[in-house]
Amino acid sequence: MLARLLTFLAVTLVTVPAARAADECLVCHSALGDTPSTMYPGDIHYRKGISCSGCHGGNPESSDPERAMDTTAGFIGVPRGNAISTACARCHSNAAQMKRWNSSVPTGQLEQLQASVHGKLSIEGRDRIAQCTSCHGVHQITAVGSPKSPVYPSNVVTTCARCHNNAVYIRSYNPSLPVDQLEKYRTSVHGIRNAKGDPKTAECASCHGSHGILSAKDVKSSVYPTNIPSTCERCHADPGYMKEYGIATDQYAKYAKSVHGVALLQKNDLGAPACNSCHGNHGAAPPGVESVSKVCGTCHALNADLFSASPHKKAFDERHLPECETCHGNHAIIVATDKLLGVSPEAVCSRCHSTADFPRGYRVAATMRALIDSLETSEAIADSLVENAEQKGMEIGEAKYKLREIRQARLESRTMVHSFNEEKFDAVVTKGLTVAAWVGGEARNALAEYVFRRIGLGVSTLIITVLAVALWLFIRRLERKQVREETVTNNSSIS
Ligand code: HEC
Ligand code: HEC
Ligand code: HEC
Ligand code: HEC
Ligand code: HEC
Ligand code: HEC
Ligand code: HEC
Ligand code: HEC
Ligand code: HEC
Ligand code: HEC
Ligand code: HEC
Repeated sequence: MLARLLTFLAVTLVTVPAARAADECLVCHSALGDTPSTMYPGDIHYRKGISCSGCHGGNPESSDPERAMDTTAGFIGVPRGNAISTACARCHSNAAQMKRWNSSVPTGQLEQLQASVHGKLSIEGRDRIAQCTSCHGVHQITAVGSPKSPVYPSNVVTTCARCHNNAVYIRSYNPSLPVDQLEKYRTSVHGIRNAKGDPKTAECASCHGSHGILSAKDVKSSVYPTNIPSTCERCHADPGYMKEYGIATDQYAKYAKSVHGVALLQKNDLGAPACNSCHGNHGAAPPGVESVSKVCGTCHALNADLFSASPHKKAFDERHLPECETCHGNHAIIVATDKLLGVSPEAVCSRCHSTADFPRGYRVAATMRALIDSLETSEAIADSLVENAEQKGMEIGEAKYKLREIRQARLESRTMVHSFNEEKFDAVVTKGLTVAAWVGGEARNALAEYVFRRIGLGVSTLIITVLAVALWLFIRRLERKQVREETVTNNSSIS
């Protein structure tokens, strides 16, 4: 009974924020003047009334070192490797335990860490790559919202970089993993603001997470292509959060509906750009006016090459107009159609070209549109003639095959628009028109032959029918004649 009472008292004393006087560990160690006890009063655990024994075990009520630091009283000495995180998890992965301090901070960090890329085995031995103390420190642990915390936004970048900037260390794990994240980050809009002490811009943990960080190649990672737009959206689509910066918050909404967003987010096409394809990962910044076509050109190489050789290159550079963006926009890029081309009000060309302003471009725009329209009409006609002939069972394989060439020429011409050169454009369209004319001719011949065969069949059927009738009549006549002759012979024999 007494023993039970004593255990009860012991447990409550260890776990309930009791009077600090009970911490003999701190008293004696402070007298020793060692670093842990000197630092400890700045630690959140100290302020919560947690004794040295909260992590190290032992009996904090005894001033006798033997009894205080006795393994039978649970003293673990100095934890190393995974034992460190296990010691933290005794409280931090135990919600009931944390309730005793009226804590509402989330729990379960150890389980997340174990499942993360940092939960893999370290090179040295049997322990994880990172322990709780790798990021939070020890003996001076603070609330993560405190500017003194090593995981506070302005500090976390160097906390992560301690390992990630260390080329020798990182290469021992993965020789192809870059070690330039902090360096690039420092040049980005995010990094510049972060260095000035702004805690609201993106830092390592805002994009990667903290305890559950995964490899960028993992489909569940917050920086896997299909997840990136929503990772950026968390801040960039929140008008309240972004208010003080005075920049638009519509990038995600526009992007999600764009040809790129639909391809990536709905069709799972990893070839389509996510936010970071254009803005960079760690160098996240708006692509500078001059480099926009470089960004688009990494995927749309032909368009970019043609543009660079076109008369618009110089004209746009002189006017500081971004190359592709001027006509296509950036986040709300839609499927390009012929409507963009020409001199109608909806065509992009007519934004700058008219009979009064830059009239040569106006004329060329009108010609280009007329050319591509005629190619499309010819293609449609060739298509329907081939289909018609095929339905009638005519052999038209080669013409059908050549339809592809027309289609190819049409696609090429859409790209060739970017030469903004009438002759080059005309050459591609003419190639398509020539094939279309040949295919149309073949299909028409096949249809004519079909008609010819139909008439031939009709005529021969008629002739055969006439012959058959004539034959039948002839046979009938023969038969009647025979009957008549037989009657005559019979009559003569009777008589
Ligand atoms: C009366 C003094 C005294 C008390 C009480 C005391 N310690 Fe110590 N502790 C020492 C001394 C002395 C050392 C040895 C220092 C050395 O070896 O450099 C030590 C060493 C340690 C070490 C390092 C052990 C190692 O293997 O290096 C830890 C951890 C420690 N104490 C924690 C505690 C905890 C927790 C308590 C309370 C449960 C406690 N101490 C109570 C005096 C004390
Ligand atoms: C929140 C948990 C926690 C608390 C509370 C805590 N420690 Fe520690 N202590 C650790 C961990 C973890 C290590 C091992 C750190 C490492 O690997 O560098 C450690 C290491 C030590 C060491 C060895 C230092 C060294 O450099 O090898 C001593 C001594 C020590 N602690 C004493 C204390 C004393 C005294 C207190 C109370 C004033 C205390 N600790 C409170 C977690 C804690
Ligand atoms: C004896 C239980 C216990 C142990 C062991 C323990 N903690 Fe804590 N920890 C707490 C409590 C209680 C708080 C305060 C929570 C609050 O403010 O609501 C806390 C707070 C923290 C915070 C600040 C959270 C915030 O509010 O931002 C961090 C970080 C932290 N602990 C890390 C650690 C690490 C790392 C270890 C191991 C080296 C550890 N803790 C060991 C109980 C413990
Ligand atoms: C790779 C670095 C890293 C490691 C390892 C790490 N943490 Fe954290 N921790 C963070 C960051 C960064 C935050 C800040 C909150 C955020 O941005 O999610 C944080 C926040 C916390 C908090 C505040 C509540 C919360 O979850 O946001 C606690 C408590 C905490 N960590 C405990 C631990 C414990 C316990 C371990 C070991 C099991 C651990 N941490 C390991 C980086 C780390
Ligand atoms: C204790 C050293 C250490 C710390 C601190 C650390 N990391 Fe790591 N991290 C590593 C190692 C080692 C790897 C490589 C693991 C592997 O690929 O085998 C890694 C891997 C990663 C990866 C996956 C890379 C990939 O795509 O394969 C990301 C992302 C990452 N860390 C981000 C962070 C962030 C963010 C922080 C800070 C919150 C951080 N790390 C803190 C050591 C560390
Ligand atoms: C604005 C968001 C963002 C921030 C801030 C950020 N990262 Fe990244 N990080 C990414 C993206 C996106 C990728 C993945 C790119 C890919 O698909 O290869 C990445 C990849 C990584 C990788 C894998 C190797 C590589 O470079 O591709 C590591 C390691 C990493 N980040 C660490 C960090 C560290 C450390 C910091 C802080 C200094 C940080 N990141 C800040 C978005 C970010
Ligand atoms: C934690 C919130 C947060 C996250 C997550 C975030 N950003 Fe930012 N971002 C900001 C803030 C705040 C600014 C500063 C705005 C300013 O100074 O104009 C900014 C600035 C930018 C800018 C420069 C805007 C300009 O013209 O000034 C770009 C581009 C950008 N972010 C892209 C991204 C991309 C891409 C991602 C995802 C990979 C991302 N951001 C994730 C908060 C965030
Ligand atoms: C196809 C390339 C591309 C993609 C994908 C893209 N952006 Fe942009 N973004 C741009 C260009 C180009 C600019 C304008 C740069 C300029 O005018 O200097 C820009 C500008 C910005 C700006 C500055 C403010 C503004 O609206 O002008 C922010 C913030 C931004 N983008 C965030 C994002 C986010 C978040 C995503 C993903 C949801 C994203 N971007 C996807 C190309 C892209
Ligand atoms: C990471 C590669 C990538 C980058 C960078 C990129 N795109 Fe795209 N883009 C694609 C893919 C893939 C498609 C096809 C999507 C679909 O149709 O499913 C596409 C489609 C388009 C289309 C519609 C094509 C059509 O047939 O109508 C236009 C226009 C376009 N992109 C313009 C741009 C511009 C302008 C930029 C730069 C601001 C850019 N793209 C950057 C990959 C990229
Ligand atoms: C002066 C306006 C203008 C500029 C500048 C411009 N485009 Fe276009 N783009 C068009 C028009 C018009 C079309 C539609 C052609 C059609 O379908 O008839 C088009 C179509 C496209 C297409 C779909 C056709 C194809 O090639 O697959 C892509 C992709 C494209 N543009 C990318 C770009 C890129 C990348 C840049 C920058 C290097 C760029 N555009 C610059 C006007 C422009
Ligand atoms: C943002 C304004 C702008 C848009 C949009 C634009 N252009 Fe231009 N274009 C110019 C300027 C400026 C010049 C240079 C005129 C000069 O220097 O005389 C030019 C020159 C040209 C030229 C060369 C004319 C010559 O003198 O040799 C052609 C062809 C042309 N544009 C066609 C087009 C077509 C087709 C479109 C639509 C797809 C288009 N442009 C859209 C501004 C624009």
